[in-house]
Amino acid sequence: MSVALVTGSAGLIGSEAARHFASLGLDVVGIDNDLRRYFFGQDGSTAWSLLRLTSDLGDSYTHFDLDIRDRDGIEQVFKKYGTSIAVVIHAAAQPSHDWAAKEPFTDFDVNAVGTINVLEHTRLHAPEAVFIHCSTNKVYGDRPNSLPLRELESRYELDEDHPYYNGITEDMSIDGSLHSIFGASKVAADVMVQEYGRYFGMNTAAFRGGTLTGPAHSAAELHGFLAYLMRCVMEGRTYNLYGYKGKMVRDAIHSHDVLTAFEAYFRNPRPGEVYNLGGGRFSNTSHIEAFRIAEEITGREAKINYVDRHRIGDHQWWISSMAKFQSHYPEWRPTYDIPKILREIYEANADTWKPE
Ligand SMILES: NC(=O)c1ccc[n+]([C@@H]2O[C@H](COP(=O)([O-])OP(=O)(O)OC[C@H]3O[C@@H](n4cnc5c(N)ncnc54)[C@H](O)[C@@H]3O)[C@@H](O)[C@H]2O)c1
Repeated sequence: MSVALVTGSAGLIGSEAARHFASLGLDVVGIDNDLRRYFFGQDGSTAWSLLRLTSDLGDSYTHFDLDIRDRDGIEQVFKKYGTSIAVVIHAAAQPSHDWAAKEPFTDFDVNAVGTINVLEHTRLHAPEAVFIHCSTNKVYGDRPNSLPLRELESRYELDEDHPYYNGITEDMSIDGSLHSIFGASKVAADVMVQEYGRYFGMNTAAFRGGTLTGPAHSAAELHGFLAYLMRCVMEGRTYNLYGYKGKMVRDAIHSHDVLTAFEAYFRNPRPGEVYNLGGGRFSNTSHIEAFRIAEEITGREAKINYVDRHRIGDHQWWISSMAKFQSHYPEWRPTYDIPKILREIYEANADTWKPE
């Protein structure tokens, strides 16, 4: 028996990971206590996703309603499955930049301490397992905002001859910038994951995500930008758009493309690596451009409340370079661009996200 242990298994990336590794024939053990509901309220709850997962995967999925802050509880799960664990996908987190400042203790306990709980028990009970950590581009803090951006009609943009035009590479410093409380707790986890690769020689990798998205996102205002944007347009809700004239740029990668990248690493791991992970030039959008596409897909007009103040530490422009990852895993290709992502979110939620 080979086991894929997935933390945050009801969330966007965790649920895709559970399905993906189950489809490869592994038994999946999931850990999730729906803390997303505590963070973001009922809109953010992942209970619906867990129900779907257990019914779709049947016997190949075993769930633990457990908190990753519970070190002893985590130890029991690792003791039970031990060296049969072939891969750990660590996707449980407090994922919001803005929420973290409300409760810095909770944010740090979940993101930093929770990560070492899972990491150290991997080392103690399944040291050969591949460990895949979901990090974030917020580890670079607001340094991308110092790039020489030009303002175009619908977005900020770099000149084509700038070295980062095709995406920001992993050599950008993570030091000496404003990270937000969330960015700082994720830096702690990211560096610890690298250290378990370098110091202990384990097959660990930190994937620094741009905007990760897909229909399994429990869209809430504070997290899940594209899904929440589409939800607002579909339900006729007002979207609060903060700062930068709505021209800030994000690259978005679909959870399916995230999992094909994780699978490539799982099959051929390299200890202590960091990779940026995003849609790159293939899949990126400004907020204004995303609204236009959502309006085209739905045939509805977006209701936007523009707030002339950007979020603290928010990126004005982020496009990930996938060059390093693709040089290590040349067979990997992204398959979803922004219109395809938005259309899928629309179709998956057409029956539930209706105007009030
Ligand atoms: N979605 C993005 O745009 C994005 C971007 C960059 C990085 N990431 C990172 O990717 C990872 C996954 O993100 P996501 O979008 O799937 O998030 P998500 O909120 O959809 O999923 C996380 C899941 O973890 C669970 N969880 C949270 N704290 C827990 C705890 N203490 N114990 C057990 N379960 C807990 C939540 O209930 C939720 O179901 C996170 O580490 C996040 O920081 C996400």
